[in-house]
Amino acid sequence: MKTIRIAALAALLGTTGAHAQSGTQAAYDAFAPAYVVSSPDTYHKSLGGIARNAQSRRDGAGNDVVISEVSQHQLPDVTERIHSRERRCGGFFSFETRAEAEAFVHSAVSPAAVASIPIVYTIDNQATVMPWLPQVREDNIYRTIKHLSTAYQNRYYASANAHAPSVWIHDTWLGLAAGRDDVSAVLFPCSACGNQYSVILSIEGSENPDEIVVLGAHLDSIALGGNTKAMLAPGADDDASGIATLTEALRVALASGWKPKRTVMFMAYAAEEVGLRGSLAIAESFKTDGRKVVGVLQLDMTNYKSGNGPDLRLMTDNSDPALQSFVAALFEEYLAPIGPTLGSFTCGYGCSDHASWTIKGYPSAMLFEAGDDDGGYFPYIHSPHDKLENMGDSAGRSVYFAQMALAFMGEVGKTAAGTPGGRVADAR
Ligand code: BES
Ligand code: ZN
Repeated sequence: MKTIRIAALAALLGTTGAHAQSGTQAAYDAFAPAYVVSSPDTYHKSLGGIARNAQSRRDGAGNDVVISEVSQHQLPDVTERIHSRERRCGGFFSFETRAEAEAFVHSAVSPAAVASIPIVYTIDNQATVMPWLPQVREDNIYRTIKHLSTAYQNRYYASANAHAPSVWIHDTWLGLAAGRDDVSAVLFPCSACGNQYSVILSIEGSENPDEIVVLGAHLDSIALGGNTKAMLAPGADDDASGIATLTEALRVALASGWKPKRTVMFMAYAAEEVGLRGSLAIAESFKTDGRKVVGVLQLDMTNYKSGNGPDLRLMTDNSDPALQSFVAALFEEYLAPIGPTLGSFTCGYGCSDHASWTIKGYPSAMLFEAGDDDGGYFPYIHSPHDKLENMGDSAGRSVYFAQMALAFMGEVGKTAAGTPGGRVADAR
């Protein structure tokens, strides 16, 4: 696995927090080509006017897609056009070379192939999960969202300060694991992510360390309609809320002394907003290394609710049907008795990082916020107004999501024998 430890990055930067000048990653070139992989529908409705050299392809999963070319600086326009013309998050992947885009399309794995990998999900770890649930604190989630949405002008992957939120998340997560030699964290580079790194914190499994459970959210933000690198892009809901929710779930689990049987990884992805780049780099590298990921839960936008609709929504597309059913079953077991309701949401062609895992053949699911009564979502995403103040100045809506993250960790990761919540003598 290609990773950079924090010490190495600090050496690269001079001091932690200084701007990375060069390093291992390619400099951002606004006029370099970007090869966009999208659905034919998105190509025709939203990309037609700006993209060049379009080519139709059938991907490895049997879907019709289009590879087309824009300039790097046009990627935010692509997102904006999709949202304004199609009134949905369309989703796309982007690459620096046509060859990479072609290889990606060729290697897409069908959901049916994912489903044929036998992974058995069970719900039998109430001893660990139940005591965690009341420990989730809204004020902790609030504080993390507040930091991420106010300490930086933006978290855009190509901005001058793009590495700073990565370093902060790395240090914050590792800080929750003080004294634990089974927990480690790395900054994970991606050639198309500028100076922004993804963050991976791992809790090593005691019995099945090769089986990996992933919980993720994206750390970058974007504001559209101006100078993307300089604009204010607080990204409080999209997706500081997901990072903050994971951070609180991690705090609760580690504070209880929990040790999993499987390896559990927390991931904060770089450069999601320009085509799922950070997550795709990780999923690709795990695939190349033959790593076994047994389940991925993505949290992208958890903190907005207006109206009387369901409190959480399960994404129906670009995710694994068996894992979706399992997440719904976790909801019934652990959350429904407390009061919330679960609905569903359909995104389009790969609107968040769960799609990177799915397309690489790993079982993945995503939970998404309540939104409004018309089935919509937070109206201020991708703007300078994506702030806590526009979400009732509260992180209350994210509490259920942190509880779902804990249920997922506890039931997919299980609990090591002889540790808190684990069996005294487990014969396995
Ligand atoms: N958080 C959004 C995805 C989202 C938005 C899901 C609205 C559901 C409703 C994500 O960060 C995003 O903006 N994705 C892009 C696509 C991505 C591949 C660049 C989008 O929706 O346009
Ligand atoms: Zn977004």
